Amino acid sequence: MIKDQIQAIITAAVNKISTRSTVHIQSPDNPQFGDYTTNIAMRLAKELKKNPLQMAEEIAKQIPKDEIIEKVEVVKPGFINFWLTKETLSKNLIQILSNINNYGKSETTRGKKIIVEYSSPNIAKPFTIGHLRSTIIGDAIANLLEAAGWTVFRDNHLGDWGTQFGKQIYAIKTWGNIGKIEKMQQPVKELVRLYVKFHKEAEKNPEIEEQGKIWFKKLEDGNEEARILWQKCIDWSWKEFNEIYDKLQVTFTENDGKGYGESFFEDKMDFIIKELQNKKLLTKSKGAQIIAFPKDKYPPLMILKDDGATLYSTRDLATDKFRLTNSHYSADVLIINEVGAEQSLYFQQLFEAEKMLGWVKDNQRVHVKHGMYRFKDKKMSTRKGNVIWLEEVLEEAKKRAESLSKQHQTDATVSQSYHDNANIIGIGALKWNDLKRSANMDILFDWDEILNMQGNAGPYMQYTYVRCRSVISKSNFSPKNKLPRIDYQAEELELMRMLEKYPSIVESAAVNMAPNLLCNYLFTLAQQYNLFYQKHPILKADQDTKNFRLALTTAVAQVIKNGLYLLGIQTVEKM
Ligand code: ARG
Repeated sequence: MIKDQIQAIITAAVNKISTRSTVHIQSPDNPQFGDYTTNIAMRLAKELKKNPLQMAEEIAKQIPKDEIIEKVEVVKPGFINFWLTKETLSKNLIQILSNINNYGKSETTRGKKIIVEYSSPNIAKPFTIGHLRSTIIGDAIANLLEAAGWTVFRDNHLGDWGTQFGKQIYAIKTWGNIGKIEKMQQPVKELVRLYVKFHKEAEKNPEIEEQGKIWFKKLEDGNEEARILWQKCIDWSWKEFNEIYDKLQVTFTENDGKGYGESFFEDKMDFIIKELQNKKLLTKSKGAQIIAFPKDKYPPLMILKDDGATLYSTRDLATDKFRLTNSHYSADVLIINEVGAEQSLYFQQLFEAEKMLGWVKDNQRVHVKHGMYRFKDKKMSTRKGNVIWLEEVLEEAKKRAESLSKQHQTDATVSQSYHDNANIIGIGALKWNDLKRSANMDILFDWDEILNMQGNAGPYMQYTYVRCRSVISKSNFSPKNKLPRIDYQAEELELMRMLEKYPSIVESAAVNMAPNLLCNYLFTLAQQYNLFYQKHPILKADQDTKNFRLALTTAVAQVIKNGLYLLGIQTVEKM
């Protein structure tokens, strides 16, 4: 990465004066401040009790202006800004063209292990919008971390255990028809209907509640009938989950791709209870067992109910114990849960408990939280159950794509194939809409914003890619390992400088677990390219200029494609 080279050059210069601080460099948001900038002079001045501006000047003098760095500038109160040479930018372009799918990948964190847990829907319950968000964001984060060199384990913490399964089994046995459910296209709907019926009936007749408990006990004790019905619920749910994962093109690596659901930890909880007891962390409260936090930092976390039943929290502790002790991972593995912001307090309690147990260090547990969807569309906001509507999105994408292609009839790149690509475009639009802003924010769901060809939306990104590819396909350009020397236009230089930043953007999006950083970058890149495209002829330019612009276009297309790929978004060749 060029950033690493710059870092080394600056470090060497700084070391001539002092070796006390490590140098950090950043790409400033405003290109006026150069390609990179550092505040090392200010930090060093503070330590050595010197004037920061003078310090900066002193360091700047030590920086060689060679084939990599063209210009160094010192600005108040002590920043040092650098500009890369055109030579470096042009070499980087060749680098992109020759290293096509790998441009942007780095090895900085090589060997470090991380578990990213996402999606985690519940068996016999609908796959909600919250699960959809978790799936999209978690997958993108896992991709980004992988690109930054981490060894990533993708886990799905299915809600497939708990007292509710006793109720579900009783309901299926009492009011359900297994043969019928078996053949249903959407079996989960029927399971939900039966579950709701259980609660209605139990209100009238408390004996039914008791039956639910009995059946959960049977399930726990391995009763064959209970186990079979429970397994059926899992299979029926997977039928629907698999369809969703296929459409989203999302996969998991753990437990043969199924993920370790809550039930996997059923027999691993006793052990946790014992450890909690040994470490004197359990307190009795109204018959239940709880973990109380020192100074009431958080409300207590319940671990066992008054009837001795385990909970979500008990299974989470067992899950993390497994992750921290199984040789497949490692004791210093980082663990990320991508779960809705409404579970924030719960995860704070869980992480605190794990610290009290002495299992994890600070920052080893991370809750990446996502906000909720709000609806502009009345029809959607009044809909019950918060269930996903992938089908609806795809239908709408198709419809809108068709009308868009009518609007764009003058543009030769838009064709009938838009129709065929509607799935990719629809899913891409939905994903982009989830990823383009920081995950914890709520989203106002708006079709016009999501399926937009002009603004910050998936189709705009895909369209820009198609535009690049279309120009290239009209030439017989093939990347060379040398580019013609031309006098670059401002827009060209800007694009080259932007392309150079891509690897460090991927890295910071990974480190910060913030796919939106990559979205921001890609959107700006696309805007800059479209500006360039409107202003400068490509195919009609003179030979050298044409070749350079085709190389630039190829590189932009490649970076958009690589970037979207990391976000879990596919590109199409025609729209
Ligand atoms: N199944 C849970 C839900 O739908 C999410 C699980 C999140 N992960 C965890 N380790 N608790 O709310």
